[in-house]
Amino acid sequence: MDFLVLFLFYLAFVLMGVVMICICTKTQRLKGLVLGGAQVMCSCVVPQPLQRAVQRLLHHLFHTRNHAFVVLHLVLQGLVYSEYTWEVFSYCQGLEFSLHYLLLPYLLLTVNLVFFTLTCSANPGTITKANELLLLQVYEFDEMMFPKNARCFTCDLRKPARSKHCSDCCAPLSAGVCDCCVHRFDHHCVWVNNCIGAWNTRYFLIYLSTLTASAATLAILSTAFLVRLVVVSDLYQKSYIDDLGQFQAVDTFFLIQHLFLTFPRIIFLLGFVLVLSLLLAGYLCFVLYLAATNQTTNEWCRGDWAWCQHCPLGAWSPSAEPQVHQNIHSHGLWSNLREIFLPAAPCYERKKR
Ligand SMILES: *[C@@H]1O[C@H](CO)[C@@H](O)[C@H](O)[C@H]1NC(C)=O
Ligand SMILES: [Zn+2]
Ligand SMILES: [Zn+2]
Repeated sequence: MDFLVLFLFYLAFVLMGVVMICICTKTQRLKGLVLGGAQVMCSCVVPQPLQRAVQRLLHHLFHTRNHAFVVLHLVLQGLVYSEYTWEVFSYCQGLEFSLHYLLLPYLLLTVNLVFFTLTCSANPGTITKANELLLLQVYEFDEMMFPKNARCFTCDLRKPARSKHCSDCCAPLSAGVCDCCVHRFDHHCVWVNNCIGAWNTRYFLIYLSTLTASAATLAILSTAFLVRLVVVSDLYQKSYIDDLGQFQAVDTFFLIQHLFLTFPRIIFLLGFVLVLSLLLAGYLCFVLYLAATNQTTNEWCRGDWAWCQHCPLGAWSPSAEPQVHQNIHSHGLWSNLREIFLPAAPCYERKKR
């Protein structure tokens, strides 16, 4: 039973870690909630000076541009791929898997890294004095979310429709994360340390799809390896001697335990990529839904808020119809996608930092 407890702990740990990372980075509102909760908990246990240090660290991590998550991203990717290469790949070759399938993750990794770099380094659509007038004409103002003649306090530029100043929701008036206005602002992604906006949403979509695909292929290949191993070695036909010295037929529980103890790293890899691919697939569906319906995450969230404020139950009730007025702008799936992949004002200058 010890093993089962350990295994459950391990599962819970992987699950919680991935969920925490997603919550902390993807949803601004939940991020505020989590950080707030952590702060309240901290203030009870941790002494004052340490608290301030933690606060400064959190501020540095989430509220300023920094490469911490980019580095973490690359380290995790490196770990997963080296484990795949050293163990799964070489064992699978021994078990005569087709090389095409085994090389697929590397292909996906290459494409993924190219688009990761593009998403990180591309100008998301920074609004400057030079392109302000041009961008003001791209989308019409709806007078609900995006009033005409609105100005950004920080940049002192007129705000084109669908743009937003990249700042932090917890401290809207302090210096923001990127601290500039971004055209067709979607969200600020800490994993690429950049905003997602008009000119890099296309890269972001491909980056996210290849990341999901590579996690899924890794999960499928490791599962296939374990299954093949069990079949080839005829483990099910064998028997073992239990604690009481009696012969027992191999059952599923023993099998899992055996695999866990023989290939602990592969099982860890499998658990991680399995949970990751499920979460990424869910998020990818959400992002594709937004793309197909001509909405940005920013608009979706704000539509959500507006709906919640009208709702008698307050902000906590889940919204059934988050965006009613947005979709009247949509001109169909293909034109929505064309707008993302061929955004207006293609003649943009590289961002100088
Ligand atoms: C998307 O919506 C905006 C308004 O929010 C509209 O101006 C634009 O024409 C729409 N694009 C497409 C392709 O439907
Ligand atoms: Zn601004
Ligand atoms: Zn940003």
